[in-house]
Amino acid sequence: MRHSVLDNDVERVLVSAEEIDRITTEIAEKIDNDYKDIEGKLVLLCILKGSVVFMGDLMKKISLPVEIDFMKVSSYGSETQTSGRIKIHLDLNRSDISDCNILVVEDIIDSGKTLSYLTDYLKLGGAKSVRTCTLLDKPERREVDFQADYVGRQIPDEFVVGYGLDYAEKYRALPYVGILKRCIYEK
Ligand code: IMP
Ligand code: MG
Repeated sequence: MRHSVLDNDVERVLVSAEEIDRITTEIAEKIDNDYKDIEGKLVLLCILKGSVVFMGDLMKKISLPVEIDFMKVSSYGSETQTSGRIKIHLDLNRSDISDCNILVVEDIIDSGKTLSYLTDYLKLGGAKSVRTCTLLDKPERREVDFQADYVGRQIPDEFVVGYGLDYAEKYRALPYVGILKRCIYEK
């Protein structure tokens, strides 16, 4: 796992780069199969910033023609606790939304509030269809009833970083997902 000085802040690797590679391949195959007969466009919607690494890998493995788009939202009150309020910092601005089958690509589901809100928001906005895909899922943390259509891996209730996920904007470039040492955020 030696990659950078930031490795030292990681308690242990939870999802290795090799496992992530297998997960993205499996999800891409399912997406290819599920969307092969759709009418309209398939649009992968990356939720910035955490999903950018997953999105980049996933889109390369999907064989169907895809368009990509971005939204930036935040739900976190403090660095490791969700506030439940969703704020849109960058909105989706498409005049062709009624022709778009949107697949929201997220890094992790925690309370479920972000994706539950976004799904409703995009449907109300007139999308042809809306589905969700997440690399990681922490089912124990759920506060609203929400399940993603594609889930890479369920993980225990631990604060994780790497492969796009951050703590205070650090650790996003680590090639694996690891549990952050508690001493880093419990100071
Ligand atoms: P939710 O709305 O509570 O489901 O929050 C999802 C968002 O919280 C994700 O997109 C992440 O940005 C952030 N998040 C939740 N758990 C973690 C974690 O363990 N590490 C880093 N970010 C996390
Ligand atoms: Mg996020």
